[in-house]
Amino acid sequence: MGGSGAPDAVEMMAGVPYFDGLSEKTRKAVADEGKVISYDAGKMIVGEGGAGVGFYLILDGKVEVRKGSKVLATLGKGQFFGEMSVIDGLPRSADVLAVAPTKCWVLVSWSFGGLLKAHPEIALPMLKELVKRLRSAQSSPAS
Ligand code: CMP
Repeated sequence: MGGSGAPDAVEMMAGVPYFDGLSEKTRKAVADEGKVISYDAGKMIVGEGGAGVGFYLILDGKVEVRKGSKVLATLGKGQFFGEMSVIDGLPRSADVLAVAPTKCWVLVSWSFGGLLKAHPEIALPMLKELVKRLRSAQSSPAS
């Protein structure tokens, strides 16, 4: 996968609201648990139907969440994807493509569970984001 180490991640996470509540020391420990991976524009990061063990936090760049030809969402710095399969163990619900050079901090599912148990304050802003996505999906249902 070619991770480039955590120093990058801890710096970039400083601007990510989900980790705002953590002390710098904790943020560093959390950052160390994941790995930074870079993707060229056009690269498929996650494929619909595939097995999913990675949670992705976008440190830089832009991705599109697609189902067939329909673009469900465009996500950028500070946003996450891949949480659905990590949470329920089911196949990936959509494709996620890098549409610009993109850097993600990637955490495997077992570490994701541990992260939320150790720092439950991260979960509430994530739930808020999920509710926002659900509302948005309700207002533009897939045809
Ligand atoms: P997962 O199913 O693991 O892999 C595909 C990801 O795309 C999914 O997790 C979510 O993170 C993201 N995703 C799926 N549907 C939507 C949507 N309607 N809006 C935003 N993101 C989505």
